[in-house]
Amino acid sequence: MRQADSEGQGDAILEWREAFDNGELNALHAACFDHRLFDDDWWAQVNRFSLGWVCMRQSGELVGFVNVAWDGGVHAFLLDTMVVLRLRRRGHAARLVAEAVRHAKDSGCEWLHVDFDPHLRDFYFDACKFAPTEAGLIRLR
Ligand SMILES: CC(C)(COP(=O)(O)OP(=O)(O)OC[C@H]1O[C@@H](n2cnc3c(N)ncnc32)[C@H](O)[C@@H]1OP(=O)(O)O)[C@@H](O)C(=O)NCCC(=O)NCCS
Repeated sequence: MRQADSEGQGDAILEWREAFDNGELNALHAACFDHRLFDDDWWAQVNRFSLGWVCMRQSGELVGFVNVAWDGGVHAFLLDTMVVLRLRRRGHAARLVAEAVRHAKDSGCEWLHVDFDPHLRDFYFDACKFAPTEAGLIRLR
């Protein structure tokens, strides 16, 4: 499902559950999260475990992504929100997340969770309208 940018932010297109190449997503992830290039099979992973995912493309290039992991019921969880460095602070990630929220709602989910580093409080609480809540985390490895 494709949706053209309607807010005058270039030719960025949002796509829900559309195809991507593992290579382009691995490259975007490495650039955004500052690690070496991996060879992960994202396509198999999201098709098996996710409610969906949003790709943002500009002139065909993958420039943004967010993964909506799912418990198979009413809970979904946002992972790997990312926008290529050169396009940041233009509202693209907020639109990516809004698209994920819309589809999670339409799919019957009741709760969308996220966690993040402290410097992204304004992004998730203000720009994306998540409510602060108590949450917990155990590092397993
Ligand atoms: C986090 C990320 C997705 C934000 O993308 P973006 O397109 O720049 O975000 P937006 O333009 O939609 O931001 C909207 C607002 O959120 C806040 N915000 C966004 N990024 C922020 C940052 N790095 N630090 C502080 N506030 C931030 C700002 O209030 C911003 O509005 P402003 O630009 O008018 O000040 C992007 O910086 C990224 O890919 N980072 C690397 C990967 C990462 O850490 N992802 C988060 C995983 S939890």
